Amino acid sequence: MMLTWRVALVAVLAVAVLTWHSNAADPFAFFDWDVSYMTASPLGVPQQVIAINKKFPGPVMNVTTNYNVAVNVLNSLDEPLLLTWDGIQMRKNCWQDGVLGTNCPIPPGWNWTYQFQVKDQIGSFFYSPSLNFQRAAGGYGGITVNNRAVILVPFGTPDGDFTLFMGDWYKKNHTDLRKILDDGKDLGVPDGVLINGKGPYQYNTSLVPAGIDYETINVEPGKTYRFRVHNVGISTSLNFRIQGHNLLMVETEGTYTVQQNYTNLDIHVGQSYSFLVTMDQNASSDYYIVASARFVNGSSWDRVTGVGILHYSNSKGKASGPLPDPPNDQFDKTWSMNQARSIRTNTSTGAARPNPQGSFHYGSINVTHVYVLQNLPPVRINGKLRTTLNGISYVPPDTPLRLADLYDKSGVYTSNFPTGPTTRPPTLGSSIINASYKGFMEIVFQNNNTIIQTYHLDGYAFFVVGMDYGVWTENSRGTYNKWDGVSRCTIQVYPGAWTAVMVSLDNVGIWNLRVENLDTWYLGQEVYVKVPDPSGYNVTEMVAPDNILYCGLLKDKQKQQVPHGSLAASSSSVLASSKTLTFMLLLLALMFSP
Ligand SMILES: *[C@@H]1O[C@H](CO)[C@@H](O)[C@H](O)[C@H]1NC(C)=O
Ligand SMILES: *[C@@H]1O[C@H](CO)[C@@H](O)[C@H](O)[C@H]1NC(C)=O
Ligand SMILES: *[C@@H]1O[C@H](CO)[C@@H](O)[C@H](O)[C@H]1NC(C)=O
Ligand SMILES: *[C@@H]1O[C@H](CO)[C@@H](O)[C@H](O)[C@H]1NC(C)=O
Ligand SMILES: *[C@@H]1O[C@H](CO)[C@@H](O)[C@H](O)[C@H]1NC(C)=O
Ligand SMILES: *[C@@H]1O[C@H](CO)[C@@H](O)[C@H](O)[C@H]1NC(C)=O
Ligand SMILES: *[C@@H]1O[C@H](CO)[C@@H](O)[C@H](O)[C@H]1NC(C)=O
Ligand SMILES: *[C@@H]1O[C@H](CO)[C@@H](O)[C@H](O)[C@H]1NC(C)=O
Ligand SMILES: *[C@@H]1O[C@H](CO)[C@@H](O)[C@H](O)[C@H]1NC(C)=O
Ligand SMILES: *[C@@H]1O[C@H](CO)[C@@H](O)[C@H](O)[C@H]1NC(C)=O
Ligand SMILES: *[C@@H]1O[C@H](CO)[C@@H](O)[C@H](O)[C@H]1NC(C)=O
Ligand SMILES: *[C@@H]1O[C@H](CO)[C@@H](O)[C@H](O)[C@H]1NC(C)=O
Repeated sequence: MMLTWRVALVAVLAVAVLTWHSNAADPFAFFDWDVSYMTASPLGVPQQVIAINKKFPGPVMNVTTNYNVAVNVLNSLDEPLLLTWDGIQMRKNCWQDGVLGTNCPIPPGWNWTYQFQVKDQIGSFFYSPSLNFQRAAGGYGGITVNNRAVILVPFGTPDGDFTLFMGDWYKKNHTDLRKILDDGKDLGVPDGVLINGKGPYQYNTSLVPAGIDYETINVEPGKTYRFRVHNVGISTSLNFRIQGHNLLMVETEGTYTVQQNYTNLDIHVGQSYSFLVTMDQNASSDYYIVASARFVNGSSWDRVTGVGILHYSNSKGKASGPLPDPPNDQFDKTWSMNQARSIRTNTSTGAARPNPQGSFHYGSINVTHVYVLQNLPPVRINGKLRTTLNGISYVPPDTPLRLADLYDKSGVYTSNFPTGPTTRPPTLGSSIINASYKGFMEIVFQNNNTIIQTYHLDGYAFFVVGMDYGVWTENSRGTYNKWDGVSRCTIQVYPGAWTAVMVSLDNVGIWNLRVENLDTWYLGQEVYVKVPDPSGYNVTEMVAPDNILYCGLLKDKQKQQVPHGSLAASSSSVLASSKTLTFMLLLLALMFSP
């Protein structure tokens, strides 16, 4: 009986996954990831980046609605690691969310297997490391959740699918960047923008040195491709555009949008969009793909521009000349906001389910909880530079909040998070928003800083009902879009403005609500929303997984793991349908029979 180790591994994992409370009728997808440092020179200078299976960016996790996913993550870094899965709702299962409020970090040299179901959702998302500023060094990759075959996608099947990760980038590594923040300083102007881990095409010899490897997207004339574009950067909003081509927006973070053409779109940190792009130009030359810094001043920002190349198979030459123009709105601060407001849900199409996206009439549901979360410029608390929400700068306790609850450890956190801005002096704290299962929450983000911020909620998608300049008041509700506001998980809040979202609290657990701007997050701007169901454990909430890691007050429960020197990093992913699963179990049985 011949069995490769890979098949054996899959079978072993399959058994492990079957013992977990998944729907065995849905297909399984297995991934084996080694997260390690690697040297790369995206801006012409060698530096340490974080790679997955030696790839930077990491692999795209390509799955379909309701798949059961197992990701065996080996931490080959010299620091603790957690991966978090932006936009994956982890229904009933905050145990897998990969943030400090729910998970103990994976120690260096250890591996840990995430197990979750991508239940009832579709769309384009990404994963990234959640600790220690590691995202500034990479470690991110895409998550594509396809429609099930029985549910029509509201556009023709594209001729190809490209994932683009763009983000501001520093030549300093993440440990040096962290130190700058720890010292209470500003990170300063980024050194560039990467597209898929690569530096800019040399569109300007004085701005871009020669010899930099840039991203090229190869296309055929007349065809239509889907571009999934993610801003995975630290804190710079980027304007995305492709020279000479329309971007037909079709999806954002799990919602099919009303299809509209844009010549360019502002994409803020942590946000994801899908566009259809038709190759309808005459290929007299290659075309620029541009991601340029937004809302910034001065020539030092000129270098903060990502440039890739769109290359037609019949192209007659290289791209040359100036980049396509960015929006010309220096004197019109409503331009970008109006663009954001134009993004709406296509209410008549199905997505994860056949019933139309608009069938949940969020606008007619009574609100049970209202929180106004105010972001102020960074302040000094006990001599350290910190960021706050409603005057509280979050400090993660050593014991994950959800684990503390499970083992009745009180005093780990408090439940007194203020419902609105306070005039008390800012403090450090570990207080959570106390919500209730099946409630309906309105959250207003009020940005009193001078820098645009984006906010993200784990475990949920929220309806974006309004945004405007000025200070939110109850009268602002009169302007809400109660019909086709887009449902997504990451939303921008302009400086001096507010954004309001509504969330149906149907997912039990403790969920991270954070700013996506990495420096602001690192300095303490996050909170957890606790959605309890008193009799929910093992009912509306899954039980803690068998492989749960313990730390903090519970560290004595943790069995030690022999650190893996080098787990075979060659394998990437193996897909098994329930049929092949049965087959593999049979193989296993055969293997163990005399
Ligand atoms: C992703 O998976 C879907 C469905 O299985 C498949 O049709 C598609 O070709 C895959 N895409 C990529 C980029 O591998
Ligand atoms: C670590 O990886 C090994 C080999 O792939 C696997 O058998 C084991 O279950 C993993 N451990 C955890 C805690 O996930
Ligand atoms: C980051 O760079 C510094 C030198 O600037 C070096 O001492 C440190 O080891 C590097 N850290 C990592 C994780 O590569
Ligand atoms: C290159 O960039 C510099 C600095 O922004 C600018 O002054 C110059 O005009 C640009 N050159 C070309 C050929 O566009
Ligand atoms: C978008 O632009 C393309 C041309 O690039 C055009 O054919 C199409 O009709 C436009 N779609 C919408 C919804 O405006
Ligand atoms: C091709 O594009 C170039 C640049 O836009 C334009 O000058 C030229 O007229 C176009 N040719 C055709 C045949 O459309
Ligand atoms: C840009 O400069 C103008 C005028 O100097 C200033 O008012 C504005 O605040 C600056 N904007 C940013 C984002 O720095
Ligand atoms: C909305 O989705 C339907 C499919 O249900 C599609 O036919 C229609 O074109 C979409 N409308 C817009 C404006 O995107
Ligand atoms: C909302 O509250 C109003 C007044 O309290 C009540 O009449 C109405 O039935 C409620 N609507 C829903 C959908 O629960
Ligand atoms: C938190 O919410 C639960 C359920 O709504 C409630 O029973 C509890 O008293 C609340 N605790 C605090 C401290 O507000
Ligand atoms: C912050 O709030 C103060 C007081 O309400 C106001 O004067 C100021 O304009 C606000 N600044 C921003 C950027 O929102
Ligand atoms: C969860 O419920 C199942 C079935 O009711 C039971 O067999 C199992 O022991 C329960 N697990 C825990 C940890 O309570």
